[in-house]
Amino acid sequence: MSAPARVLVLFAHPAFHRSRVQRALADAVRDLDGVTFHDLYEQYYDFQLDVEHEQRLMVEHDLIVFQHPFYWYSSPALLKEWQDLVLEYGFAYGENGTALRGKRLLSVLSAGGPAEAYAREGYNRFTVGELLAPFEQTARLCGMEYLSPFVVYNARALSDAEIDRHAREYRQRLGELRDAGAEISGGDAR
Ligand SMILES: Cc1cc2nc3c(=O)[nH]c(=O)nc-3n(C[C@H](O)[C@H](O)[C@H](O)COP(=O)(O)O)c2cc1C
Repeated sequence: MSAPARVLVLFAHPAFHRSRVQRALADAVRDLDGVTFHDLYEQYYDFQLDVEHEQRLMVEHDLIVFQHPFYWYSSPALLKEWQDLVLEYGFAYGENGTALRGKRLLSVLSAGGPAEAYAREGYNRFTVGELLAPFEQTARLCGMEYLSPFVVYNARALSDAEIDRHAREYRQRLGELRDAGAEISGGDAR
């Protein structure tokens, strides 16, 4: 059996003091064995990222989680800044850019819209999976495997009990992925 995967949760929520869903999801995994929980807005409220530190964290982990509320069909701005600066040519892609090959990427989102809105006939017209295409392709270009996202819909209308259930499911999913180990079958390592 392979060693457990080392999990890095990159958490991005610019209004955490008002959060219900992401707070519960964060609390469900931050103390899990083998999980490094990294709150980007807490550490970099001024957007001055320590790129070397972030790259080192990436190298030291096998499964990377982007955990955030869905903002305008994407991530909050700091996670985009993180991608722009940390996923450098020569590190994440391009010549000698092999540091992330064979790792996995998981998106963990909460969305205000209900599940049925994220369909061809729904008011958002696209599935969340389709809207996350830039994340999926970014992972592929870096030789990472992009996992099926974990999405909590209808975020603002959920009861405490429903939020709690999603949080427990998330904890279980992360625990299973950790225990599945670091070895991946495929990955698109180019
Ligand atoms: C700036 C902004 C943009 C948002 N964009 C979307 C969106 O594109 N799709 C969606 O379903 N919900 C959207 N929402 C709703 C949030 O995703 C939702 O309130 C959040 O996931 C709830 O989680 P929380 O309780 O942790 O804050 C947006 C909210 C804000 C403040």
